[in-house]
Amino acid sequence: MANQGVNDPINTGRRRFLTATTAVVGAVGAGFVAVPFIKSWNPSAKAKLAGAPVTVDISALQEGQRLVQEWRGQPIWIVKRSKAILEALPTLDVHLRDPKSDNADQQPGYVKQASPELRSIKPEISVLVGLCTHLGCSPEMKAEIRPEPFDPEWKGGYFCPCHKSRFDMAGRVFQGVPAPTNLVVPPHYYQDDNTIVIGVDPKGVA
Ligand code: FES
Repeated sequence: MANQGVNDPINTGRRRFLTATTAVVGAVGAGFVAVPFIKSWNPSAKAKLAGAPVTVDISALQEGQRLVQEWRGQPIWIVKRSKAILEALPTLDVHLRDPKSDNADQQPGYVKQASPELRSIKPEISVLVGLCTHLGCSPEMKAEIRPEPFDPEWKGGYFCPCHKSRFDMAGRVFQGVPAPTNLVVPPHYYQDDNTIVIGVDPKGVA
């Protein structure tokens, strides 16, 4: 099975100590919406500086929602993608700079192995560092499949208003924009079906 091993944690003791939890709140809409999160417990400042892993509960995350969690001072986006979005992603390959995730700096190897186009361990759940690879602005999520002023053929994705870089719903960068590379997928694994640990690779993979 392609994902075998991704649920096996490593460094369990450290993770137990350095754990933050999140909760999804807010209305569930038909389209993608940014969802605020509540931290019920925060790692200490020292642990944060050390890049402590964070544990995220995605049990309440509905299709079309995005959950934002901080890790190492960066926004981590966890997005539940619809079937329509997943079907649209491969059709975009010809417009992208690195459609098959060949730049190994932008995602862990096990993510590429799971799916170089979806860039995720589970097809529907995308985990990305929400910072543009041009100069580090946080792009806007434009997740509806509909014409946008910057692209009449838009299939959903992320738009960075700073210098107009565009990324698809897998964080893959379009050709002809200033951002040089795909958005980063951080190390992560599934502790169970509804729990993602950000900052730790699955046991036995890289
Ligand atoms: S920082 Fe995103 S396009 Fe420049």
